[in-house]
Amino acid sequence: MSASNRMGGNRIMAEASEPLAVYIHWPYCARICPYCDFNVYKRKEDVVLLPAILRDLEHWRDLTGPRTITSIHFGGGTPSLMTPHQVAAVIDKVADLWTFYDPEIALEANPHEMNAADWRGYRAAGLTRMSLGIQSFHDPALKFLGRDHDGATAQAALDLALDIFPSVSADLIFGWAGQTLDMLSDDLRRVLAAGTQHISTYQLTIEDGTAFANAETRGQTRAVDTDLSADLYDLVRDTLIEVGFDHYEVSNFAKPSHRSKHNLAYWQGLDYVGVGPGAHGRVTEKDNATQTQTRSATIAHLTPGAYSRAVTETGSGIDSREILTGEGWSSEYLLMGLRIEEGVSLARYRELSGSGLNISELEALIEDGLLDKDGDRLSASSTGRVVLNAVTERLLLS
Ligand SMILES: C[S@@+](CC[C@H](N)C(=O)[O-])C[C@H]1O[C@@H](n2cnc3c(N)ncnc32)[C@H](O)[C@@H]1O
Ligand code: SF4
Repeated sequence: MSASNRMGGNRIMAEASEPLAVYIHWPYCARICPYCDFNVYKRKEDVVLLPAILRDLEHWRDLTGPRTITSIHFGGGTPSLMTPHQVAAVIDKVADLWTFYDPEIALEANPHEMNAADWRGYRAAGLTRMSLGIQSFHDPALKFLGRDHDGATAQAALDLALDIFPSVSADLIFGWAGQTLDMLSDDLRRVLAAGTQHISTYQLTIEDGTAFANAETRGQTRAVDTDLSADLYDLVRDTLIEVGFDHYEVSNFAKPSHRSKHNLAYWQGLDYVGVGPGAHGRVTEKDNATQTQTRSATIAHLTPGAYSRAVTETGSGIDSREILTGEGWSSEYLLMGLRIEEGVSLARYRELSGSGLNISELEALIEDGLLDKDGDRLSASSTGRVVLNAVTERLLLS
């Protein structure tokens, strides 16, 4: 697809085929944040990763067959370290291999690398959405979180993204030691005043093996206590709902028509391609003769070197491919589906697991106000979403 018809050409009518989301993992970062345990590596010159990703996509086309692309998501790491040319090469490859139907094409960007020419280049390449790692506008907080940007840069990057992309999402981290309700309120006010259409709010988690985990081991507190954390979460929810955002997933809020199509594909249990180092994928195959379905979970080779080598030698970056059992598939469907407002279909759960949920536990959770049932749909109430792990544990272990 040429650059000229890419901008207006996303809305290509697809033949009726199953939807497919595409995840591209770009693992490099300018600096590794002290709280992050994603599959990330310090930025370096790498001329083999992009060709490997493009070739791996061809292998994925063989696995999935013809499908309709509903989203492409460049995640990381820091995919805003990619050039517009690299981003366009990936989008063009996906367009050549599958059929587009008005896909959401999103990229995660760090404010520090803001570059108007590159961002306009991403837009020209077909990007429809930018997800910005704002985290906070408070300079001391950004320093504490080990970020490269300051509050003024966060503000400028947000304004620029809103000027260029039809949909912009801002990530905020809450619950860092020293944060008060007023500080969070101020961050929310600023993100809203800019006109941001989607907000992801992540509670700071202390992940094993990170610099923050090591600091905590030395007795240095990095996160607030659970009571304040719950109050901060309530503040986010109340503030954003009050101004018309839908709380459509545990950590995600959107103005109407700005939900993340890509993340919804994960939560709804749809299929997704996972290319790039350490990327996860899911693909469902149907045997027309027996009308049975199998779903595989794939994980790509973890390091950029191992990933690119595997693609060169075998044509595929996949390191492990596991067929999900009925129990594995149905549990994942439930765990992911209860994160979203629309919840899960009980009939679909029964179909996947071969048995239904434990009725008495289900009724007890409804009685406790943690789950809601409406016909075939089961969803977590707003109270239930706060303690979702405990709710799903009760459902799955009963
Ligand atoms: C993995 S990053 C990728 C995007 C980009 N590199 C960035 O940092 O903004 C995606 C988001 O994950 C969140 N995140 C990463 N580690 C986290 C942690 N330990 N606790 C809470 N949020 C975290 C941050 O809010 C970040 O914006
Ligand atoms: S939080 Fe983002 S920028 Fe920081 S190390 Fe993780 S992926 Fe890289």
